[in-house]
Amino acid sequence: MILQDKTILIANISGKRSTGWAIAQSLAKQGAKIAYTYQNERFGSDVKKLFEPLDAIDVGECDVTSDEDIDKLFERLGNSVNVLDGLIHTPAFAKQEDLSSNFVNTSRDGFRLALDISCYSLIALCKRALPLLEVRGGAVTALTYIGGEKAVKNYNVMGVAKSALESSIRYLALDLGPKNIRVNAISAGPMRTLAARGLKDFMVMYELIKDKAPLKRNINPSEVGDTASFLCSDLASGITGEIIHVDAGYNTIGV
Ligand SMILES: NC(=O)c1ccc[n+]([C@@H]2O[C@H](COP(=O)([O-])OP(=O)(O)OC[C@H]3O[C@@H](n4cnc5c(N)ncnc54)[C@H](O)[C@@H]3O)[C@@H](O)[C@H]2O)c1
Repeated sequence: MILQDKTILIANISGKRSTGWAIAQSLAKQGAKIAYTYQNERFGSDVKKLFEPLDAIDVGECDVTSDEDIDKLFERLGNSVNVLDGLIHTPAFAKQEDLSSNFVNTSRDGFRLALDISCYSLIALCKRALPLLEVRGGAVTALTYIGGEKAVKNYNVMGVAKSALESSIRYLALDLGPKNIRVNAISAGPMRTLAARGLKDFMVMYELIKDKAPLKRNINPSEVGDTASFLCSDLASGITGEIIHVDAGYNTIGV
């Protein structure tokens, strides 16, 4: 088990179909002690049930648009642990109209909201996690999508947010590297989570990737979970500032 004696915070998990839960299962299988959070109580009751069989720490709800919520989250976490070896970042959000209209119509408010939740939250969480992460060094891992590198139809402002997130990964890696904190992202292929199914024509894209990807299939969320476990482990001790693709090779092919 590659994560024995490591404590990892997953911020956050929305339910059994979420990538956060796929990651939690892999981390637990690899021996990690998991601390978890959720956006609000609407998600909380389902998420708590998922964790019942595991010996995990429920750190409660946290809306990442609120600095006060993030402060309180780490106050509560600090009451249960005095060291953190890993932080997994999953929040992403864009207004429905900004994912279904033309990109040129993106509103100022929609842009601000998407960038705040999907990118700034990583910086805000890292800042509060720092005192716990620097105790013995650690690993921060976020989730991104190819829409941050290339223009993907209907991904729109979320693609811009993912570009900013990927750039933040590199700047955070540079900032936190001297404290032996590594910062990376996993660029995952499409997975049929609830959030993804809200994207216009998601299933069309899902089928298309199956045909084009070198592995001729879509990925399983457990493969993202296992890559997160690797990145949080000492096996990845020399890797930071990277965007690792777990997409059945789709990003590597030309037209
Ligand atoms: N599903 C895919 O195809 C896919 C592919 C590549 C990357 N990703 C990324 O994986 C991550 C998880 O997405 P998912 O598909 O598992 O869906 P998800 O809905 O489970 O995850 C999105 C998360 O964002 C959280 N969130 C939104 N607004 C928030 C707020 N104000 N405060 C706190 N949390 C908030 C939700 O609670 C939820 O947990 C996202 O970053 C997503 O972009 C997903």
